[in-house]
Amino acid sequence: MNAPGPDDYTDEELHALFHNNHEAAFAAYISGSRHSSDKQAFLFDWMAPAPDDFILECGSSSGKTCVDLSRRGNCRTLGVDFDAEAVRISSAMRDRYFPGLKERCQFVLGDLTTMRFDPGLTKILMPDFTEHIPDRVLLAILRNIRRQFDDIELFIYTPARSHVFEILKHHNILLKNPSGHINVKTMAQLLDVLRETGWVVTSAGWRCSSMWYVKPIELAFGYLPIVGKYFQRRLAIKARPDKAATS
Ligand SMILES: C[S@@+](CC[C@H](N)C(=O)[O-])C[C@H]1O[C@@H](n2cnc3c(N)ncnc32)[C@H](O)[C@@H]1O
Repeated sequence: MNAPGPDDYTDEELHALFHNNHEAAFAAYISGSRHSSDKQAFLFDWMAPAPDDFILECGSSSGKTCVDLSRRGNCRTLGVDFDAEAVRISSAMRDRYFPGLKERCQFVLGDLTTMRFDPGLTKILMPDFTEHIPDRVLLAILRNIRRQFDDIELFIYTPARSHVFEILKHHNILLKNPSGHINVKTMAQLLDVLRETGWVVTSAGWRCSSMWYVKPIELAFGYLPIVGKYFQRRLAIKARPDKAATS
């Protein structure tokens, strides 16, 4: 029998998947693990949060990304997750380690496909999120945001399906695909989804792995034509609402 496609999962099955170890992820942030530091440093530089920013994070899990942006950027952040445990743990971790952030870094349980957003939001971030949701949910979220904002900056950061590690994981060769990664996409697929839901891509780039022994290989081959896509570990895409689109 064929493995289920991303859109075959019911909402209940999506909730039941293991998406992340929220506590371990926050602990890795506190201890400054290489992977966590590499990701947070990139997101911070890429998003350039300013004190007048109000950033929504889709799928906030442990809360470390909102905490980091609020801490270092002095901005407001709101993390939304569909897992009540994520909301409980992220709020508890913030209060334990950074109690001063309580007013401007908050976490709520919510359905991003239908929720009303605060019109004061200035940026929307999807870090390691789109690979966890089926197309029907991704399209509904992008359309819901698009309907409510004429102008806002959207940031998508996600593993690239074309990278050699993802190919091995998806064929169960040497590496195992995490159970929550049901919809890892290529750059071309993500750009299509954005266009279809009324967004204009303003920048589309890639990043290396944080592993020191893989990075030089990715840097050496990732810029080559044709084969480069097999060495591009993560995609980093910025988009804005397409004012001409009626989607
Ligand atoms: C890998 S974690 C995200 C990591 C986090 N953004 C960060 O940067 O630290 C994926 C998260 O997405 C959440 N999630 C999955 N599907 C969702 C949905 N439809 N709506 C909201 N959250 C969802 C999961 O509960 C999980 O916490």
